[in-house]
Amino acid sequence: MQNGSIIEVKNLTKTFGKFTAVDNISFNVKEGEIFGLLGPNGAGKSTTLRMLSTLAKPTSGTAIIGGYDIVKNDTEVRKLIGIVSEKMIMYNRLTAKENLWFFGSLFNIPKDVLRKRIDELLELVQLTKFKNAQVGTFSTGMRQRMNVVRALLNTPKVLYLDEPTLGLDPQSSVEIREFVKKLNRENGTTVIVTTHMMVDADLMCDRIAIVDHGKIEALDTSVNLKKQFSGANATVIKLELSNLTPEIIATIQELHCSDSVTQEDSTHLKILVHGEEAFDSIIDAIRSKGGKITSMENLQPTLEDVFLHITGHQVRDSADQKMPMAEHRGPFARQQSRIR
Ligand SMILES: Nc1ncnc2c1ncn2[C@@H]1O[C@H](COP(=O)(O)OP(=O)(O)OP(=O)(O)O)[C@@H](O)[C@H]1O
Ligand SMILES: [Mg+2]
Repeated sequence: MQNGSIIEVKNLTKTFGKFTAVDNISFNVKEGEIFGLLGPNGAGKSTTLRMLSTLAKPTSGTAIIGGYDIVKNDTEVRKLIGIVSEKMIMYNRLTAKENLWFFGSLFNIPKDVLRKRIDELLELVQLTKFKNAQVGTFSTGMRQRMNVVRALLNTPKVLYLDEPTLGLDPQSSVEIREFVKKLNRENGTTVIVTTHMMVDADLMCDRIAIVDHGKIEALDTSVNLKKQFSGANATVIKLELSNLTPEIIATIQELHCSDSVTQEDSTHLKILVHGEEAFDSIIDAIRSKGGKITSMENLQPTLEDVFLHITGHQVRDSADQKMPMAEHRGPFARQQSRIR
């Protein structure tokens, strides 16, 4: 293991025919870290996790998990990991306990140890009183807690969570986040979590890799990503206009210096801009359409601002998005993909 890294990803690539879903990515995850893969739909997050869990074979490159190669030592790797994936199967007609017993039996765990572990884990996620209820009757939040418990049956050193809070209400999302943090803190479990929820990435992760089109576009702590954003001559401004019109918004969107424009209410706009001339260009554009600016404020960038600056505003998974990118944009490079 290198510098306390429990996961070393080396030039990992996955292609499906001519389409490259994961494009030569390399990164390390330290032991005991919560590491986030943050990216839009189709960025390659799940495919990366599938390779790191030995469920999919890399086209090229590899990763070393706890000293074992995901390609050459897949059996050893599987003993170290637990995965909560997007589509987990639970048997609706079996009770919580029966499901866990079934999945736990797939590991080589002595029966008495497994029995105790199931009880402890159900207690940990507050499902003890539902242990004899059929899983089919559970809410989405309860099912997700079951999925997490299931991934923990073999006490993995590394836990992968693929979109763990997708479809959950705020209460259940907080619960899952807090549980993962507790597990990480108390057991030292290393976690890789994929998400496109900014709040998850911001509140859970020690470091975040922003991925898009199969590449890592930026990798750092949330605080540093925000600092780099400001350092890259990008900023967030909030404008108040007494006569805000759709035409004014469209004009700002057309400007080269504006990365995204969000209308907050009938008079306020939030604009992500970059470049030294940005303020002048925006003020000129607004005046040219007869707009009257009544106040202007510089805001601290949020992780979402950083994310949109890096990945752009274009909705993913349309057919043209499957075409290879013409060029690789470096971190914090100017976006080509704005709403037109
Ligand atoms: N088995 C497959 N065959 C062909 N294409 C695939 C396959 N699996 C994934 N892809 C494509 O690879 C790309 C990356 O998919 P992946 O599921 O890894 O994205 P993701 O970042 O997890 O997205 P989401 O946020 O929607 O879950 C997508 O364009 C997807 O359509
Ligand atoms: Mg996915």
